[in-house]
Amino acid sequence: MRFLFLGDVVGRSGRKVVLDTLPRLREAWRLDFVVINGENSAGGFGITEQITQDLLDAGADCVTLGNHAFDQREALVFIARQPRLVRPLNFPKGTPGAGAALISARNGAQVLVINAMGRVFMTELDCPFRAIDAELMACPLKQGADAIFIDFHAEATSEKQALAVFLDSRVSAIAGTHTHSPTADERILPGGTAYISDAGMCGDYQSVLGMDAEEPVQRFLSRIPKERFKPAEGAATLCGLAVEIDDATGLAVRTKALRMGGVLSQSTPEWWSEG
Ligand SMILES: [Fe+2]
Ligand SMILES: [Fe+2]
Repeated sequence: MRFLFLGDVVGRSGRKVVLDTLPRLREAWRLDFVVINGENSAGGFGITEQITQDLLDAGADCVTLGNHAFDQREALVFIARQPRLVRPLNFPKGTPGAGAALISARNGAQVLVINAMGRVFMTELDCPFRAIDAELMACPLKQGADAIFIDFHAEATSEKQALAVFLDSRVSAIAGTHTHSPTADERILPGGTAYISDAGMCGDYQSVLGMDAEEPVQRFLSRIPKERFKPAEGAATLCGLAVEIDDATGLAVRTKALRMGGVLSQSTPEWWSEG
């Protein structure tokens, strides 16, 4: 199975690079399953029903979220009728929507997608390790699902790496999100789980985390908010993680970080075009 994850889509610039690029990638790389983190897709804060649909129409099979999940209040309502939109699993009981979804891939495989949030330097939620563990007990790899992907939305690299070691061999791939900066540490762990500490954002990198730099810099200098944060409007880089998953085991056989377009652009993983 050919799997692609794209990191936090930030604002109009991030949406543009996804909508312009993903349909072509889906075809060219014969992708079976695509997940996109959409927590910053609506003006940098949250997601709307229309944007969710646009990302699905562009080729996403599932959209994940994070701490900005419900910044657009309409998400509290429409998430109930959009089973492909997944919010963090470890939000308090009673939060609208679900933290996991089992979705059919193009090749007929059943893929379990789980979104969870870290607790270091973030809002204290339920324990993400135990919450994911319970989910995997109910739907184990190769028994309940043919492939399993975790979007771990967290600030601290230590927490992300600890979760990766904790889950190694039980899931196909884990990508960190939230920091909006891609890390250069993608690899396959000893047990067969593909991992990257942070996939990076799909957004304009001539910015502060995808936001026009003026206000963030001003706030660090003065501590007084002057205006709202607004997404930077320059050309975005498409950032994510490509993973080839063995259909027999559900584990990763190849993985490569992806950076296309904008200022962080790199050559694409050539092995996608093989065979
Ligand atoms: Fe984000
Ligand atoms: Fe976030």
